[in-house]
Amino acid sequence: MKRRPIIAGNWKMYKTKDDALAFIYAVNVKVPEKELVESVICAPAIFLRDLVKREGEELRIGAQTMHELDEGAYTGEISACMLKSYGVEYVVIGHSERRAYYNETDESVNKKVIQAVKNDITPILCVGESLDIREAGTTDQIVKDQVVKAYLNMNAEQALKTVVAYEPIWAIGTGKTATPEQANDTIKAIRNVLTELYSAEISEQIRILYGGSVKPNNVDELLAQSDIDGALVGGASLDPESFLALVNAAVK
Ligand code: 13P
Repeated sequence: MKRRPIIAGNWKMYKTKDDALAFIYAVNVKVPEKELVESVICAPAIFLRDLVKREGEELRIGAQTMHELDEGAYTGEISACMLKSYGVEYVVIGHSERRAYYNETDESVNKKVIQAVKNDITPILCVGESLDIREAGTTDQIVKDQVVKAYLNMNAEQALKTVVAYEPIWAIGTGKTATPEQANDTIKAIRNVLTELYSAEISEQIRILYGGSVKPNNVDELLAQSDIDGALVGGASLDPESFLALVNAAVK
């Protein structure tokens, strides 16, 4: 089964408005056809409207988080229907930075994934282990547990609309990438859980990305692995040329 690759940039809390606009003008007409690779920029919420307005045919815009409810007295928060009403098509859910600094739990991650799907926004569900867990040899167990909890109460039809990103915490922003084999093994373990939860037919269709110090010089060997369907990229997505190199690598 051939799954269409996704290269999603996660800008985190970087760039000003002028930087964001300069980026989109620089990459817009250069990203490959969306039938070949889904090229996505997940930007800070304040830039989303400007980016969606200017996105070309082949580029898609995503948010970095959202609230789990439709509406309510939650100062500072943004809901899925708000994102949808602005034409935002993806949302990163449960990034390890949000789990660590904003107390996102498996339970809220589950609610957010369901809420995104219900609003026709593709959730990019992040899972991944800390260095302690990797060294203790319990990575697969911990990551599987995160996946099981994230897919609670989701039916197969909903699960098909999700994307998973495996991001080992020790590889994020550190310059330390998981070896392609390490990344592929954990991603296979994630796919196995999805097979257990749904079926092989379903799990074979769900895209699972790798994230953690992905750069133009290591992306080829990661994407060459059997189960890695793309990348969620922080630092290397900030520069237009580097982002373009990553999306072009996914087309090869
Ligand atoms: P880096 O690519 O900067 O390591 O960040 C990875 C990440 O957290 C993407 O969500």
